[in-house]
Amino acid sequence: MKPYVILNAAMTLDGKIATKTGSSNISGEKDLKRVHELRKEVDGIMVGINTVIADNPRLTVHKINANPEDNPVRIVVDSKCRTPIASRITNNDAKTIIAGANSYKYDFIVGDRYANFTKLGVDFFFSGNKQVDLNSLMDYLYKQDIKTLMLEGGSTLNFSMIKEGLIDEIRICVAPFVVGGRESHTLFDGEGFDTMDEGVRLELFDSFKLDDDLILQYKVLKKI
Ligand SMILES: NC(=O)c1ccc[n+]([C@@H]2O[C@H](COP(=O)([O-])OP(=O)(O)OC[C@H]3O[C@@H](n4cnc5c(N)ncnc54)[C@H](OP(=O)(O)O)[C@@H]3O)[C@@H](O)[C@H]2O)c1
Repeated sequence: MKPYVILNAAMTLDGKIATKTGSSNISGEKDLKRVHELRKEVDGIMVGINTVIADNPRLTVHKINANPEDNPVRIVVDSKCRTPIASRITNNDAKTIIAGANSYKYDFIVGDRYANFTKLGVDFFFSGNKQVDLNSLMDYLYKQDIKTLMLEGGSTLNFSMIKEGLIDEIRICVAPFVVGGRESHTLFDGEGFDTMDEGVRLELFDSFKLDDDLILQYKVLKKI
């Protein structure tokens, strides 16, 4: 069993989720409120380690009226447990789980960093060899009562998740900007597919405007 996974992201018209220098302030105010409504609805919210390092997000519900218990459980996919201890994601606003990989587990848990994270109440789950096994992680999160999970990037984790068939829905804010740049992250990076036939099919089920932004909502069609 796995949680129902909704990928949410904001991108420019040219599909970039950050500029080449890492600037990722894309959504308008109304879209940010939509994102926080979604955070309030889900049980968990997951990001890759590079997003934690680049953006230092809180991943809490703070742009709308909310109570502390509205904050979803935060999950960082971080094979080598590189999450900086002073990251905002380790604050006590919500529970945090770091998902690491087995190759790095022993060295990490005998060190001071593990003890310091534990003092902050951060939990750990290890799976996979050199990288996190996302299928095992989904199974674990479901067993932790995380039945709905919001995936908030970045590009590398997004691609691994969709390639593994683990994303059920995609909600995208398309902002009216073009930033270009071959080094800029797109919505899905990773190694990519070779042919269009291998591409993951989507079905648009809703679209609407929020000021200048366009929101597109898709179901991910499962391969038969
Ligand atoms: N506009 C938006 O909506 C939005 C949202 C989020 C992020 N962003 C942007 O996205 C950028 C970061 O994206 P990114 O692609 O560099 O990194 P990312 O997806 O945030 O993190 C990727 C890292 O996760 C770790 N990982 C562990 N197991 C994995 C697995 N099975 N599959 C994939 N990754 C795994 C890997 O590092 P280890 O091997 O070290 O564990 C990998 O390098 C930032 O610039 C950020 O601003 C934009």
